[in-house]
Amino acid sequence: MSFRRTKIVATLGPASNSPEMLEQLILAGLNVARLNFSHGSPEEHKARARLVRELAAKHGRFVALLGDLQGPKIRIAKFVNKRIELKEGDSFRFSVTHPRDAGNQDVVGIDYPDLVKDCSVGDELLLDDGRVVMRVEAATADELQCRVTIGGPLSDHKGINRRGGGLTAPALTAKDKADIKLAAEMELDYLAVSFPRDAADMELARRLRDEAGGKAWLVAKIERAEAVADDEALDGLIRASDAVMVARGDLGVEIGDAELVGIQKKIILHARRYNKAVITATQMMESMIHNPMPTRAEVSDVANAVLDYTDAVMLSAESAAGEYPLEAVQAMARICQGAEKHPDTRRSHHRLGQTFGRCDESIALASMYAANHFPGIKAIICLTESGYTPLIMSRIRSSVPIFAYSPHRETQARVALFRGVETVPFDAAALPPEKVSQMAVDELLKRGVVTKGDWVILTKGDSYTTQGGTNTMKILHVGDLLV
Ligand code: G6P
Ligand code: MG
Repeated sequence: MSFRRTKIVATLGPASNSPEMLEQLILAGLNVARLNFSHGSPEEHKARARLVRELAAKHGRFVALLGDLQGPKIRIAKFVNKRIELKEGDSFRFSVTHPRDAGNQDVVGIDYPDLVKDCSVGDELLLDDGRVVMRVEAATADELQCRVTIGGPLSDHKGINRRGGGLTAPALTAKDKADIKLAAEMELDYLAVSFPRDAADMELARRLRDEAGGKAWLVAKIERAEAVADDEALDGLIRASDAVMVARGDLGVEIGDAELVGIQKKIILHARRYNKAVITATQMMESMIHNPMPTRAEVSDVANAVLDYTDAVMLSAESAAGEYPLEAVQAMARICQGAEKHPDTRRSHHRLGQTFGRCDESIALASMYAANHFPGIKAIICLTESGYTPLIMSRIRSSVPIFAYSPHRETQARVALFRGVETVPFDAAALPPEKVSQMAVDELLKRGVVTKGDWVILTKGDSYTTQGGTNTMKILHVGDLLV
């Protein structure tokens, strides 16, 4: 049996709202559904979440829900005629005082007054994800005067970034704080924080999540230049998070496209090093918004992320607003599986010269070493409360599937993000201890994953309910009487 190890995150939106489409996406292999809080009402998000959970349950699939906070995206206000056309060499102003709905060929309002304070002469401003570029030539107390260096259309509410980053907007807006409560109420599995600058932003989000009674694991979107300025900044942010996203849209604009591929590899490497899951996002299948087939460059981009050993690849507008959401998920699934055949994704050189910090980590990594070097082993069974043990296991490159056995709904959904990890609902604590191994292996026999004569690794602790308690690895011979 061949599993796809790399997981697919797809953003839901008008193109994927209908129960029919959603059902097809789930059957095509959707692992994590992303709800983008930048668009849509709480009611719409709740309806989508409910539908995903119903349809996944109907088909015995496990799909995690990820809410993505809007964050402090800095935007221009509106134009009288909705859009203007700027040419190279034009002069243009951003004004704190200009009426919000009266932008014209010379000037537009901005909703973030500190932009003027944060910028100085010589800075480069990128509008609409870098489609229009300007240089600041003069700055007054309430205005930036700029010269257009790359022209193009500019329309209402387009985003502004500064090359090199460094805009001071705090990561959590009033809307984000309300959405953290909404996420708790919806029992979302993951919550992505947009534009975090450092660990403190993630700690604040964590405190607000706890206060709201939420259990979602927090995903730091790496999308500011200062977050990747040096290893200390990046690692601090990664350590303060439960997972990270390589948010290539804003990040690419701030650091420039030439740096992006190297930074992607570094973020993935560092996330794995700190036992965090990692999602690679933005424009992976962009042309599929209008075409049923990806370009060769997109195929290569997805495959490259798989070879970098990302946990998941993500679709944004392709699945939310595109014409071919199903084809996009299918193409991703196909490309991931194809790339996973490459020997580099199967063998680990990871942590060979390192020491382990914890008992459960030692067992998890010893299991992966055994699984990768004993060809008889066809599967790993990992009894888990929180999903932590299979998370550590899946930091290691392998072709052996990891099955997370857990009685908890949250854990069953959460592991859907982790590379190479599949969910098996299982309540070891409810069984007589001498039956656990046999019943656990029976689940894999039932699914056709193993047959008589195969070997399986099973990990657990002395108690059947203790988080962090894993201290045992067993190698079981399928078909023998197991105790
Ligand atoms: C299950 C096992 C326990 C183990 C635990 C680890 O409950 O039955 O023996 O200690 O998982 O959970 P964790 O959340 O640390 O992966
Ligand atoms: Mg972004």
